[in-house]
Amino acid sequence: MAPEFIIVHPQVLPHIAHIQLNRPQELNALNLQLMLELRDALRALDEDEQVRCIVLSGNEKAFAAGADIKQMAGKTAIDMYNTDQFSTWDAIKKIKKPIIAAVSGFALGGGCELAMLCDMIVASETAKFGQPEIKIGVMPGAGGTQRLTRAVGKALAMEMVLTGKFITAEEALRAGLINRVVPPDLFLSEAFRLAETIAQQSPLAVKMAKEAVLRAFDSTLEEGLHFERKNFYLLFASDDQKEGMQAFIEKRTPVFTGK
Ligand code: CAA
Repeated sequence: MAPEFIIVHPQVLPHIAHIQLNRPQELNALNLQLMLELRDALRALDEDEQVRCIVLSGNEKAFAAGADIKQMAGKTAIDMYNTDQFSTWDAIKKIKKPIIAAVSGFALGGGCELAMLCDMIVASETAKFGQPEIKIGVMPGAGGTQRLTRAVGKALAMEMVLTGKFITAEEALRAGLINRVVPPDLFLSEAFRLAETIAQQSPLAVKMAKEAVLRAFDSTLEEGLHFERKNFYLLFASDDQKEGMQAFIEKRTPVFTGK
């Protein structure tokens, strides 16, 4: 069945897929169905050998304004526990291919957390990032207290989480939350440009490198270095390592196959 709340373009450009969150009337509020559709689409693209990089966007007004407050408002703690709506986020965390968030307008609450779950963030000058859950009597629940703090440090994370204040794209760039800021009409094309550069590399090396960078958040330095070294050695089993190094020696552009 075609998804209702997202639009998927598996080959928007060669080797690049695009998923657009598509609940514009609700500023792309992340209801349960949208997150299930997103999880399933990402899993399918992760399996698709043609795809090397994925761009996730909303629209100009909103990347996503958070989890769907109207859907959550009447729930009990037991409902929340039984539905375990953030389990979809664990599945998205396991996607091996790089995901670039292209953010314009609001990236709030779960929207900010979803952007942070991606591997890189390209933002429009109009982007606003925030964790305003405190203003509705709760707190971030999908990584906001952890990923935001790791990205921007305690001082700014604490202020954003405890006051609900939004930060601009420029502030987010200075704080290290995002990769780049571009004029409003360029946020998507710039994300595709970044994706194209990644798609030109060896897909295997890209996946293993992503896995190793993410390991830095979940391990001691010693464990992370060990993991990195194993992935580095493992890549010598690939055709792409032979091709990449031979192409360097022959002063030509490598042709990577992902084998
Ligand atoms: N959930 C459900 N509906 C939402 C929504 C959300 N998170 N955010 C916006 N909407 C809906 C509004 O209710 C409104 O719908 P109606 O037209 O039916 O009234 C529509 O989207 C447009 O929104 P506004 O009229 O409010 O637009 P605005 O431009 O005046 O304000 C805004 C924009 C500042 C983003 C404001 O909508 C807002 O504050 N949204 C909520 C942000 C928020 O609190 N997010 C955190 C949610 S909790 C969470 O995410 C938990 C977690 O950790 C995962």
